[in-house]
Amino acid sequence: MGKFQVLDHPLIQHKLTIIRNKNCGTRSFREVVNEISTLMAYEVSRDMPLQDKEIETPVSKMTAKELAGKKVAIVPILRAGIGMVDGILELIPAAKVGHIGMYRDEKTLQPHEYFVKLPSDINQRQVFVVDPMLATGGSAIMAIDALKKRGATNIKFVCLVSAPEGVKALQEKHPDIDIYTAALDDHLNEDGYIVPGLGDAGDRLFGTK
Ligand code: URA
Repeated sequence: MGKFQVLDHPLIQHKLTIIRNKNCGTRSFREVVNEISTLMAYEVSRDMPLQDKEIETPVSKMTAKELAGKKVAIVPILRAGIGMVDGILELIPAAKVGHIGMYRDEKTLQPHEYFVKLPSDINQRQVFVVDPMLATGGSAIMAIDALKKRGATNIKFVCLVSAPEGVKALQEKHPDIDIYTAALDDHLNEDGYIVPGLGDAGDRLFGTK
């Protein structure tokens, strides 16, 4: 089973409280989601492998460390996932960015994939799938299906707020995936919102309603 980790760093928790507040406006919401995403990227990249590199400092030669192996792809699930991309790029500027678009069928409530554009070498990259809310898990499961179908093998899912229902569904369908969240909330309500959550992340990021 992959890791399930609540990133409880005090700065992440403090900033999450700011965006949960219904009085946080679009501009602040966007800025703080960026900041949280940067802090989360720091934790999520903790197990990236290093390799030795021979360099010379102004004083002497040394064997130093540099990142080795897999390069990173950030894959936001449209639309709200876009809000997390720039914050991660702050720390991993060389990452490539793919996009996966899902819509929810209004009758069946099932997510459907309508857009997938990924780096061509996705099978060789460490993939961070990002979506602020892990609610039912439907979109996350389909996005990861889409990535695996195209050869991705090394995938981590990163969200801000998760519901137990979504975590369970995602772990059941994709037990190999590591899940990182800033909070595990109480439950989903009958409208599919996470309680207490932060509302509709896409609407709050983009100022729509
Ligand atoms: N998507 C959101 O944006 N918010 C929720 O609470 C659940 C799904």
